[in-house]
Amino acid sequence: MTAKYLPMREIMAQGAVMPILTVADPVAAGDIAKALVAGGIKVFEITLRTPAALKGLEAMRAAAPEAIIGAGTILNATDLHRAMGAGAQFGVSPGMTPELLKAVRQANFPFLPGIETTSEAMFAREMGFKELKLFPANVIGAIPWLASIKPVFPDLVFCATGGVKPGDVLAHLSQPNCLQVGGSWVTPADAIAKGDWKAIETLARQAASFKRPA
Ligand code: 3PG
Repeated sequence: MTAKYLPMREIMAQGAVMPILTVADPVAAGDIAKALVAGGIKVFEITLRTPAALKGLEAMRAAAPEAIIGAGTILNATDLHRAMGAGAQFGVSPGMTPELLKAVRQANFPFLPGIETTSEAMFAREMGFKELKLFPANVIGAIPWLASIKPVFPDLVFCATGGVKPGDVLAHLSQPNCLQVGGSWVTPADAIAKGDWKAIETLARQAASFKRPA
């Protein structure tokens, strides 16, 4: 029997850039998913920040069955269970609470808890989470932060998100503990509003071309 979900670290290895998107219209969500996959993206996240998000997630799973699609902005166990019910294949949170992490563990679900400090890193680690979202990356100065904590927590790896732009992707990825960066620039709101899926495919192709240094 194969496991239902891939381990979080394997999911992170599918793409050095993880597009993070927010949709207001579930029909557009399916088209966005197709454009991302056409551009070579294998893993992306839809945030639970709009009433359309769960329907959007379902539409994306149907439109792009080959992709690995996560739900972001999971703030509590209720969000987690709703996202799993809509077909999320992993979850992401801007932070964490003991209740949320316990629910994730119970569900045996791949998950990136969000952290911003060393104490939060220690707490997540104690709860059994070694793949973490570093958020908001631009506010904390993620690149020197990652370099400073590497000797302290050699077992932790990060997806840095929040204000990351194409011009600083490689600087993040050249930190050995930064497996991935996430960002919303791949799916700009104006392209979504215009239904410009070709523009999203082009941005996806650029995002998919970023690789971590060997
Ligand atoms: C996140 O949830 O990490 C942010 O929404 C990323 O979005 P940004 O690339 O627009 O900062």
